[in-house]
Amino acid sequence: MEHAIIVYANQKGPVIERDVYGHFSEHLGRCIYGGLWVGPDSPIPNIRGYRKDVVEALKKIRIPNLRWPGGCFADEYHWKDGIGPKEERKRMVNTHWGGVVEDNSFGTHEFMDLCELLECKAYVNGNVGSGTIQEMQEWVEYMTFDGDSPMARLRAKNGREKPWKLPYFCVGNENWGCGGNMTPEHYADRYRNFQTYVRNYGKDKIYKIAGGPNVADYKWTEVLMREAARMMDGLSLHYYTYEERWEDKKSATVFDELGWFKTLKNAYRMDELVANHSNIMDKYDPEKRIGLIVDEWGCWHEAEPGTNPGFLYQQNTLRDALVAGITLNGFNNRADRVRMANLAQLANVLQSPILTEGPDMVLTPTYHVLDMYKNHQGATLLATGLATGEYRHDPSAKGIPALSVSASLSTAGEITLTVTNANPKKAARVPVSVSGHSGALKNARAEVLTADRMNALNDFAHPDAVKARPLAVAAPKDGSLELELPPMSVVTLTLS
Ligand code: AHR
Repeated sequence: MEHAIIVYANQKGPVIERDVYGHFSEHLGRCIYGGLWVGPDSPIPNIRGYRKDVVEALKKIRIPNLRWPGGCFADEYHWKDGIGPKEERKRMVNTHWGGVVEDNSFGTHEFMDLCELLECKAYVNGNVGSGTIQEMQEWVEYMTFDGDSPMARLRAKNGREKPWKLPYFCVGNENWGCGGNMTPEHYADRYRNFQTYVRNYGKDKIYKIAGGPNVADYKWTEVLMREAARMMDGLSLHYYTYEERWEDKKSATVFDELGWFKTLKNAYRMDELVANHSNIMDKYDPEKRIGLIVDEWGCWHEAEPGTNPGFLYQQNTLRDALVAGITLNGFNNRADRVRMANLAQLANVLQSPILTEGPDMVLTPTYHVLDMYKNHQGATLLATGLATGEYRHDPSAKGIPALSVSASLSTAGEITLTVTNANPKKAARVPVSVSGHSGALKNARAEVLTADRMNALNDFAHPDAVKARPLAVAAPKDGSLELELPPMSVVTLTLS
């Protein structure tokens, strides 16, 4: 028997935070403008300026939180430029992303109101690289102070009497790079200093996140934890999946099996990174109070030919869906440390669940994976045992696990199992058994996302080419059943 899965229903882990299924919207290309926001006067159907189709699609996958305004843009963003009458808002050059003029028509009010509309938590990223402590302090006061203060009065003058809720705030972004090219020691000092003024004005405590390492920069984690652990609730981590590497990006849609294999291999690397950073954090935080916040993850391919390379617009194929499935199974299994994650980015940028073109919208294969995994949000992690064959592209080289898995128990008592099969040529017959479950499991239903090509995708002419379909599965007998995963597939099995 090549593969097998056991779910230990009586070995309960931590809750998989809903926020692990979070999103990221930066002032970059067509993410905000065109992707989320078209303005109230647009002929594109909208709710007070927000695209109606996009809002509905995000509600369907139960978007738990949204990060904004960057990314690299965050450390160039001056929030006061984005409030008040639109015609008076200051314009700026978005130097990081295409050198286009940013008119600041989407600012704090537009973002916070969007979070209310989506019923998701706001995650705001502050400016350390080119901002001041006073600016950051006043922004927090503007968003959250309920009383008579200069910033609360300014907010009211701009049309919002009551403060918003601000559950998450990150002090800078990638401060080892675009956020100021700092050393970890320097940033640790800046973090301690800036975070002091991220005040809690009401009873709701802001979860303070320190800008974390890039990929395998373990020194950054070590220094930040040593110097500032007691002043943070979370530490961020950024890791993107490339086919090769950042300096040599490859096409999102034109690749062979080697490109498929390398990309999935790099997706598996996320788990190693999370484990290693978490081990360092354990030294200073053995109780795991501090969350690892993977607030940028996803595939980074070459920009779609014919588009502005600074806009990072890329298509999204079945390969991206497998990357999402593998990564999210990894996050679920490490729910003890990973408390939030944000896929980069929400619309029209990098590994987007949503693509838009004028009035049209397409849901990508990645969107469908988020939909298939949504029952894990807020559920309790269950321990799993996985025996998996290897998937090798080159028989003489080391392979990767063909299967990945995670399982959870919802408050309604349903067990959700998500499984990926990375092998593009071979189906996987997998005996699944559940041990230690209190009642008899009688029902099983499953759905599968696959296609006949590794690079199958949804475009505006064929929006439903890749989507989840029902997968035949027999009812469990004595807690066991057999699952047949097609080659290159993502499967969700629900048991009750
Ligand atoms: O998501 C695109 C960019 O990638 C972000 O702005 C930055 O933080 C990262 O390098």
